[in-house]
Amino acid sequence: PAVVIAVDGPSGSGKSSVSRAVAARLGLAYLDTGAMYRAATVWCTRRGTDLSDVAAVAADVASMPLEMGVDPEGPGVVLDGQDVAEEIRTTAVSATVSKVATNLEVRAELKRRQREAIDAERTGGFSGGRGVLAEGRDITTVVAPDADVRILLTASEEARLRRRALDVHGAADASAVEATRDQVLRRDRDDSTVSQFEVAADGVVTVDSSDLDLEQTVDAVLAVVAK
Ligand code: CDP
Repeated sequence: PAVVIAVDGPSGSGKSSVSRAVAARLGLAYLDTGAMYRAATVWCTRRGTDLSDVAAVAADVASMPLEMGVDPEGPGVVLDGQDVAEEIRTTAVSATVSKVATNLEVRAELKRRQREAIDAERTGGFSGGRGVLAEGRDITTVVAPDADVRILLTASEEARLRRRALDVHGAADASAVEATRDQVLRRDRDDSTVSQFEVAADGVVTVDSSDLDLEQTVDAVLAVVAK
């Protein structure tokens, strides 16, 4: 029978790399829901829509031609026929994505698409019915509260900033960490109406990756799944 795994957590918790590795290991599809919010931001921006115009943004996203790849070894993000996997990671998108992600109509539309993608993997899809690991900030609580395994991946603020600095600046010295601090903490605050990470919801297992490297965190998640 298909397995559905839901993983959420804040930036820099290692959520994406860990999720991809776990999905690959278990032969599951991988759904990056954050990439969908990022693609929606690129789409509205490209159309010249004012991101604070709630109705206009909702209308744009309702008709957004987005195809999400779910291969954990290389999940493509195709927007209007074009690969935007790199464009969605730019700092410009990171700085504005919360505006789009706090739009309730956008959340409803993307939730609908995410549930569709998850359901497709229960019976067929990329995984051939093996199932899916879906990752993102409201996955364990809103999108897939019925998942077989639900995990909150946390890490201390220090560890999160260090990892994000490495991702963005390729270094984790003091000045790179400082440059990252404002951006990461501001986005977590901007997202806070959407998600709260301090406490795991009922039935959600917390994995703290502060003192674990990637491989150790993957093993810790696999151990939770195996239970
Ligand atoms: O870069 P990071 O791993 O922190 O985030 P991401 O997973 O790429 O998500 C980018 C942004 O999308 C978040 O800051 C949220 O604003 C939004 N998001 C959301 O609202 N709900 C989700 N399920 C996933 C992402």
